[in-house]
Amino acid sequence: MQDSVFIGGGGEAYATKQGLKLKYANRHGLIAGATGTGKTVTLQILAEGFSKAGVPVFLSDVKGDLSGLAAAGSEGFKLHQAFTDRASKIGFDDYTYESFPVTFWDLFGEQGHPVRTTVAEMGPLLLSRLMDLTEAQEGILNIAFRLSDEQGLPLLDLKDLQALLVWVGENRKELSLRYGAVSVASIGAIQRRLLILENQGGTKLFGEPALALSDIMRTDPDGRGRINILAADKLMGSPRLYATFLLWLLSELFEELPEVGDPDKPRLVFFFDEAHLLFDGAPKALVDKVEQVARLIRSKGVGIYFVTQNPADVPEDVLGQLGNRIQHALRAFTGRDKKQLRLAAETYRENPRFDTEQAIREVGVGEAVTSMLAKKGIPGVVERTLIRPPSSQLGPLDDSLRKQVIATSPVSGKYETVQDRRSAYEILKQRAEKAASEAEAAEAREEEMSMAEREFNAARRYSGSRVSRSSSRSMRISKDDSFGTAMGKMVMKELTGTTGRKIVRGILGGLFKGR
Ligand SMILES: Nc1ncnc2c1ncn2[C@@H]1O[C@H](COP(=O)(O)OP(=O)(O)OP(=O)(O)O)[C@@H](O)[C@H]1O
Ligand SMILES: [Mg+2]
Repeated sequence: MQDSVFIGGGGEAYATKQGLKLKYANRHGLIAGATGTGKTVTLQILAEGFSKAGVPVFLSDVKGDLSGLAAAGSEGFKLHQAFTDRASKIGFDDYTYESFPVTFWDLFGEQGHPVRTTVAEMGPLLLSRLMDLTEAQEGILNIAFRLSDEQGLPLLDLKDLQALLVWVGENRKELSLRYGAVSVASIGAIQRRLLILENQGGTKLFGEPALALSDIMRTDPDGRGRINILAADKLMGSPRLYATFLLWLLSELFEELPEVGDPDKPRLVFFFDEAHLLFDGAPKALVDKVEQVARLIRSKGVGIYFVTQNPADVPEDVLGQLGNRIQHALRAFTGRDKKQLRLAAETYRENPRFDTEQAIREVGVGEAVTSMLAKKGIPGVVERTLIRPPSSQLGPLDDSLRKQVIATSPVSGKYETVQDRRSAYEILKQRAEKAASEAEAAEAREEEMSMAEREFNAARRYSGSRVSRSSSRSMRISKDDSFGTAMGKMVMKELTGTTGRKIVRGILGGLFKGR
């Protein structure tokens, strides 16, 4: 089975080997089934198979149980006998225990190398989805991104975005003339959403060094593809963050990778666990985008596999593009369940040996109704397949072993330290500081002048003339003036099309609220 990933045994007595053809592995897939039916183990054996075939894998580990891929299974394990029995039943003669090359990633930087991207790379569409913005709010975000480009204010982390939004708020009158209504209420709403995002871990997601795609597409010297495991247990607490991050990664792969047509094997396979989260309440524009990315990313040599409980969770347009299917058992309690089950069954090419609908209901744990793309990319006849047992450890990796894997990974040390490059926040802050120091210099000059004035007055007192009591107050007013003027002038030099005083307030606002 050189040209496929071995998945298990089908046909009479499960004796016929079933495989997923590497050539068609970029035509995507679906792993579905009720809870406890074997989805995670299926994902595990697919990751093992792809790795062995030299294909790097990216997957999210929702319950932590896929981390076991980094260790070999063992004869002392309670299921050892069950595994070997299963292996011999399906003719898996060279079944052995082995570990796989794993790179751990974690948005929170705790269970793996930190994964980050920049606000600019995430883009206004995904950010709006991430923060659940209304159309009007999204419009403002678009303006902020436009200004960031025009004014050379890079958006890297969340404080950049905050500073820029404050600036937009302070200049809304001028901006409204150019872009249409910019309301304070909308900006306030975005700011509040930003706070929520921060609390969900957004601060950690945005910044530099940003993830280099080449780091999740590595192959080890021994020829095996690296399995990248994103810790998603904590991340699942913020489903929107989870779904948006993975969607960003997909669109990034789509944009960055060159066309390769239909290669002999994929350059990367991407497993999207709990895929329903991607579509729950998603606006049509987003579903369309997923559909589009799925359709086009194939020619970049990337295969996407959605993992979910019920195939009905995946919109039809997307489902239609998932060529390789592993359907574990589905339960059908209600009329609606039954209808969905029938619809799911109808999407397969019938096998005269059994009834598809009934098989989907009956298959045991670790068994599935499968249909893989065959010659010319046509869906193969449906099979009842007993899925092969895993070679790596079933269940989570020991904490100390995980630490060891992280410390010795090829990217160890590359992402651990945050770099806070000069960007919108720093630039706006620096402008304000420069303006402030200019104002201070002006103030000092004035101070000097007033010293001279006082001396002069003192001299006059000695000479018998009266000193005005209001002189100190009028001096304070002029100090305020000079501060504002210096800042205004300075900012006016850098920014055109807006009045200095408003910008000044914006910069100060950004300074104080941005922290
Ligand atoms: N291919 C297999 N070979 C051997 N045992 C299996 C296989 N698939 C599943 N099992 C057994 O069934 C158990 C449950 O499978 P698994 O964890 O994959 O279910 P799941 O569908 O991911 O469940 P959940 O929805 O709760 O995450 C496994 O712990 C294992 O004991
Ligand atoms: Mg599972």
